[in-house]
Amino acid sequence: MNISLLLSVLLGFALVAAAANFNQDIAITWGDGRGKILENGHLLTLSLDNFSGSGFQSKNEYLFGKIDMNLKLVPGNSAGTVTTYYLRSQGSTWDEIDFEFLGNLTGEPYTVHTNVYCGGKGNREQQFRLWFDPTKDFHTYSVLWNPRRIIFSVDGTPIREFKNLESIGVPFPKSQPMRVYSSLWNADDWATRGGLIKTDWSKAPFTAAYRNYKADACVWSSGKSSCSASSPSRNSWLSQELDISSQQRLKWVQKNYMIYNYCADAKRFPQGLPKECTAP
Ligand SMILES: *[C@@H]1O[C@H](CO)[C@@H](O)[C@H](O)[C@H]1NC(C)=O
Ligand SMILES: *[C@@H]1O[C@H](CO)[C@@H](O)[C@H](O)[C@H]1NC(C)=O
Repeated sequence: MNISLLLSVLLGFALVAAAANFNQDIAITWGDGRGKILENGHLLTLSLDNFSGSGFQSKNEYLFGKIDMNLKLVPGNSAGTVTTYYLRSQGSTWDEIDFEFLGNLTGEPYTVHTNVYCGGKGNREQQFRLWFDPTKDFHTYSVLWNPRRIIFSVDGTPIREFKNLESIGVPFPKSQPMRVYSSLWNADDWATRGGLIKTDWSKAPFTAAYRNYKADACVWSSGKSSCSASSPSRNSWLSQELDISSQQRLKWVQKNYMIYNYCADAKRFPQGLPKECTAP
């Protein structure tokens, strides 16, 4: 074996060892066998049938991080199903950063629902369509959470930014460690066209698939947080902000794909829109 071949074999091992592994990072927490870790930890599936859904959580808790996951959503008639993917802390005044994918009839678009909770209070919904069919292939859904901002992204394109505006009295999640959770469950009492369209159980089981979980994050353990991040620039996510081109892509998404914005829903806030909505 020549040196370069040897090197590439060794490098190959190093890459494999560094790649995400669900067996190491994730615990399936409910669903009685409906959640599965496959392919030596490289694929995870959740399923839902007329008895139960299923779900998992990250083994680690994080205080800030950039969390990426590839998801392939329930194909075909997924009406009534909800796939959630979120970060959440413990307790009654929890913080939470939410992605939820609301299924639909075959050929009708999914709704991507997002929300940010601080101290147990949410009411900050924004909803989007996607610019691709999320059931055909895996796509990357990311949450960047640092002390200055939360950025939701899809395939690297930011769809939402929630800034730290504590200076004007808007709460921001920054002191409670969160775990990553995901679940697939039935919500046909509200999910699709407000509950009008029911889950078609003859199509069950419904299955969503996950790959490439990646957490560049500060891991919380025994009251302390220790940050790690992959190269090239260590911990760059901790101070990351949107550059000009990302801001332009965010505007493009918000103009063309946003279907609900709490900040534009004046009826809902008769006392006035939340402060973050009118901040300069
Ligand atoms: C669930 O679906 C199976 C297979 O279609 C059926 O046999 C069973 O009765 C259903 N159970 C419930 C609780 O609806
Ligand atoms: C499902 O498709 C219909 C028709 O295109 C759309 O109005 C609705 O918002 C879609 N999503 C959900 C979750 O109902």
